[in-house]
Amino acid sequence: MTATLTSDLIQQCRNLFPALSRDHNGQPAIYLDGPAGTQVPQSVMDAITHYYCTCNANHGGQFATSHESDALVQEAHQALADFVGADQWREIVFGANMTSLTFAFSRAVARTWTAGDNIVVTRLDHDANVSTWAQAAKDHDVEVRYADIHKDNCTLDIDDLKSKIDDRTKLVAVGLASNSSGSINPVQEITSYAKQVQSQVFIDAVHIAPHRLIDVKQIGCDFLACSTYKFFGPHIGVLWAKAEILESLEAYKVRPSSMEIPDKWMTGTQNFASLCGARAAVDYLADLGRTVSGDGSLTRREALQSAYAAIHRYEDDLCKQLLTGLATVTDLKIHGITAPDQIDQRVPTVSVTHPKMSASALASELNEYGIYAWDGNYYALELTEQLGLEPDGMVRLGLVHYNTAEEVTRLITALKEILN
Ligand SMILES: Cc1ncc(COP(=O)(O)O)c(C=O)c1O
Repeated sequence: MTATLTSDLIQQCRNLFPALSRDHNGQPAIYLDGPAGTQVPQSVMDAITHYYCTCNANHGGQFATSHESDALVQEAHQALADFVGADQWREIVFGANMTSLTFAFSRAVARTWTAGDNIVVTRLDHDANVSTWAQAAKDHDVEVRYADIHKDNCTLDIDDLKSKIDDRTKLVAVGLASNSSGSINPVQEITSYAKQVQSQVFIDAVHIAPHRLIDVKQIGCDFLACSTYKFFGPHIGVLWAKAEILESLEAYKVRPSSMEIPDKWMTGTQNFASLCGARAAVDYLADLGRTVSGDGSLTRREALQSAYAAIHRYEDDLCKQLLTGLATVTDLKIHGITAPDQIDQRVPTVSVTHPKMSASALASELNEYGIYAWDGNYYALELTEQLGLEPDGMVRLGLVHYNTAEEVTRLITALKEILN
């Protein structure tokens, strides 16, 4: 039986996030911009401050502050290994953000491809999991194949994706969840299909990270990337890959830097303070898991399992409320799964359009109500092109567990006042 995130517990969580007490035109601000970056709990800020106050030093020195800094950085690697379900802390690579990590990594992976090979990307993905690979492929005369979508509910066409894979496929790059329609992709099924032809699989887990527990071993993929600022942490990116791949693959690096993993892949000086913040973000979630289960003895991974089980349930209810409410706003179109019995196949990220108002105008109107929501394509460019929604795009209403039923009610009222 999954423990529940009661409204009291949600309020307790909200109290940990200073930004959530922001006032906008006399009423509490509503943050629906989580898919572009969530707010952060005080513990994340404290971890960053602690780093600068106590052991701000570069990596690998023979003196106390550098030793302490390196120890904290290693803790961050371990926390993120726990977060994605990896075997070893050495399999976690940090970098500026998911896009930069993927650009760097794709160049290295592409050196193993030869002309005539192909890779498969999708029309549902954020461009950081499309253009990165497409440009690397171009450099090596490798064909890029695009897996299509079902336009009616903005889900990935799995049959089409499978049909694009053959024995010259070297890589399948696919997202775990769409940052636009919220659809969740069956990545385990995709991975096992790709493995039949020994293709490698790269998973973009950026959007799923605040909503579902990531488990790299269960997925069976080779690489996975996410960004801690999407799950209550600072602005940094994370790449996981199997140790043997990180070890054997040739990295683009400077000569004096270490050949050991993960350092071999972490070019230049890292944002050490933010790595401490990333560790604190994972621990915020783990603490939530311990609180909701009432079991303070859970390991970090167990606690994360508990947290995500509760978050999943809470967000499903909130998402149902949102979809039901949106259906009462005249002429508002939802671009994604709406069927209540398919709620499990999406996260609570809902993109909408209205024939009477552009996406940017609607987002600006919502701002007047103290509701912060994104408009545009949010870099999921292939999708908006397929839907014929360029250049305006959509308005994205993104919920995470710190959002509440009252906020959803206020949103629906605002939309009706603006649009009906
Ligand atoms: C699904 C998805 N993938 C990749 C990215 C890129 O992440 P980053 O900003 O860390 O480069 C984003 C950012 O919005 C995203 O939503």
